[in-house]
Amino acid sequence: MVDQRYTRTAIFLHWLIAALLIGQFSFGWYLDEIPRGVPERSYFVNLHKSTGIVIGLLIFIRLFWRLAHTPPPLPLTVPSWERRLATAGHRLLYALMVIMPVSGYIASNFSKYGIKFFNVVSFPPWGIDDKAIYAFFNGTHKLASWLLLVMVILHVLAALKHLFIDRDQVFSRMLLRRRAAQRQ
Ligand code: HEM
Ligand code: HEM
Repeated sequence: MVDQRYTRTAIFLHWLIAALLIGQFSFGWYLDEIPRGVPERSYFVNLHKSTGIVIGLLIFIRLFWRLAHTPPPLPLTVPSWERRLATAGHRLLYALMVIMPVSGYIASNFSKYGIKFFNVVSFPPWGIDDKAIYAFFNGTHKLASWLLLVMVILHVLAALKHLFIDRDQVFSRMLLRRRAAQRQ
């Protein structure tokens, strides 16, 4: 029988990155609460940049892993319009997951502050100190964060629809099950 579940690796990466992203979102908004110009701000901004880079690397690992692995087929009860919507939604989620760290990283390199990785190792900026370029990538970072939030909310609603309305296996195939016979 065809395995209808995601592999353990896919499930692990999905939930790890989802949890880290929720933390990173909250961290980003918390930065807004810290007044500009105070020394603590640079400490927290550098921490946000550092955790963002680590999460970004995990996102790239997940993306490359996903490109090399086909997801399990959806149950036959899922209509074709919903399959197309799910594929488009997942692609957009991946695109936004990549845009978030990349836009933040590029913006930071067009500012004289650069990145102080975990407030220990200084990565001097490779770009010029240019307010317009910084504003463009920082604006992309902010816009993408709102788009990603909207997409995640729609994504969760879709998952809950499968759990409570359709009552099919789509939700549970992304849950870890303690079974020895799972694929890697
Ligand atoms: C991994 C994913 C990331 C997420 C989900 C994320 C999320 C956010 C959010 C929600 C904000 C607040 C936006 C707003 O005020 O409307 C923010 C601000 C910021 N992020 Fe990120 N971020 C990520 C990665 C990064 C990275 C890798 C860097 C740089 C290396 C970075 C640099 C910044 C900076 C400098 C700000 C402050 C911008 C400002 O206040 O003008 N972020 N981020
Ligand atoms: C930041 C949060 C999240 C992001 C970025 C995210 C992203 C994704 C992506 C990209 C996929 C497609 C996987 C693939 O085929 O490669 C997926 C699948 C899935 N996600 Fe999430 N997810 C998040 C949170 C959640 C939450 C909170 C739930 C549950 C309430 C959830 C439930 C699911 C389910 C059930 C699937 C499998 C869908 C299917 O079989 O077609 N996700 N997620």
